Amino acid sequence: MPAVIILGAQWGDEGKGKATDQLGTRAEYVVKYNGGNNAGHTVVVDGEKFALHLLPSGILSETCTPVIGNGVVVDLGVLFEEINDLESRGVDTSKLRISANAHVITSYGRSFDGLSEKALGNAKIGTTGRGIGPTYSDKAARLGIRIQDLFHPEELDRKVRAALAQKNPLLSAFDEPTVVADDVVADLLSYAERVRPMVCDVTLELNDALDEHKTVVFEGGQSTMLDIDHGTYPYVTSSNATSGGACTGSGVGPTRIDRVVGVMKAYVTRVGEGPFPTELLDEQGEWLRQTGGEFGVTTGRPRRCGWYDAPVARYAARVNGLTDIVLTKLDVLSGLEQIPVCVAYDVDGVRVDEVPAAQVDFQKATPIYEYVPGWDEDITSATSFEELPEAARSYVHYLEQVSKCRISSIGVGAEREKTIVIRDLLD
Ligand code: GDP
Ligand code: IMO
Ligand code: MG
Repeated sequence: MPAVIILGAQWGDEGKGKATDQLGTRAEYVVKYNGGNNAGHTVVVDGEKFALHLLPSGILSETCTPVIGNGVVVDLGVLFEEINDLESRGVDTSKLRISANAHVITSYGRSFDGLSEKALGNAKIGTTGRGIGPTYSDKAARLGIRIQDLFHPEELDRKVRAALAQKNPLLSAFDEPTVVADDVVADLLSYAERVRPMVCDVTLELNDALDEHKTVVFEGGQSTMLDIDHGTYPYVTSSNATSGGACTGSGVGPTRIDRVVGVMKAYVTRVGEGPFPTELLDEQGEWLRQTGGEFGVTTGRPRRCGWYDAPVARYAARVNGLTDIVLTKLDVLSGLEQIPVCVAYDVDGVRVDEVPAAQVDFQKATPIYEYVPGWDEDITSATSFEELPEAARSYVHYLEQVSKCRISSIGVGAEREKTIVIRDLLD
């Protein structure tokens, strides 16, 4: 099974890093295809915790080549900080490849992220403040700076000046100091020689690898409900986190993809603003947050917590063409007498079975729950499905049925090996 996409199927932080790392130990390539250092992917190996932001989780596997695809936005300062940190912890990062077409996050990209949030006031998105939105905006507006520009100083200078001709008047309008083109160019050029050996034709390398039947895992950042097209717009990130993004963000065609795996928590969390029908604003939400350790890897913000949302799961299955679900954090739910599962919504007194197409309706949606019996046992040592208590097995079967997609793996702890594999995702 050579080409597998791993992506978020809720609102992010589902455990994509752990799922990718597991496959990474058996893959030749792990490719990050969207987003940037807004992501925070946690991997725990031999008791040691790694929080990866810009680097693909495959970097922790010695046999795997990690790749940053063209769909990613790269903050070069963060890239080398992460590389230095991993190298100091004994991780070999020398195989990292970066697409020449990936865009870079500039200092003014970061500034505009904060300024836009401030200007939005109460309608703010709650971004990670990393300059993600403005960098993708510049890409779409054809004002972006790409990795390949670092090797052509005159071209770089011209592009930075063209961008600043539009940015500086805006900065002045915000009463902010304007940006000096020479400073931006000098900053970007300071990374050029270090990044040069990593740059390659990612599309060619990945397609060649697939021709040779090598295993390529695509690691999504963010999530389906944060996708710029399919998420809860405008409360989304600025890239395609869904399965199509793996193709456009790496230059590998859809006909080459064998499996699309959606990672879902056994409940739901969200960071930042925007609709979240099953959100718990009471002590149950606080219990989930504390028991699940639900605090952001990137910003440290407390995550909003709520019960499993089956219409969202079905929606994710649809827009991504999911073949499998990796269900994570089942262990967190031990000790509940019964577990609510949202099966439909109430919108203005009318039962709605699927995620409404109109955001005004989704914002008003309240959950209609069914209740599944819980279990008391600690399940963190379970290594097979049969070892789980009957109620936990029934909960998994129930989620499978209401989500309309098979569950192929279950997480029972943060460590790499705390996973019950029902079906091998690389088979
Ligand atoms: P990602 O952004 O999708 O990679 O997820 P994050 O790393 O932001 O958040 C997931 C958190 O859950 C991390 O702290 C992981 O170590 C942890 N985690 C992943 N899978 C499991 C699991 O099955 N059980 C428990 N208890 N923790 C898990
Ligand atoms: P991983 O890959 C959870 C959210 C932010 C905000 C919105 C837009 O770890 O799952 P941005 O900075 O991207 O412009 O912010 O998206 N967000 C995430 N939430 N996990 C993430 O990444 C996220 N990346 C962005 O909180 O609501
Ligand atoms: Mg995360």
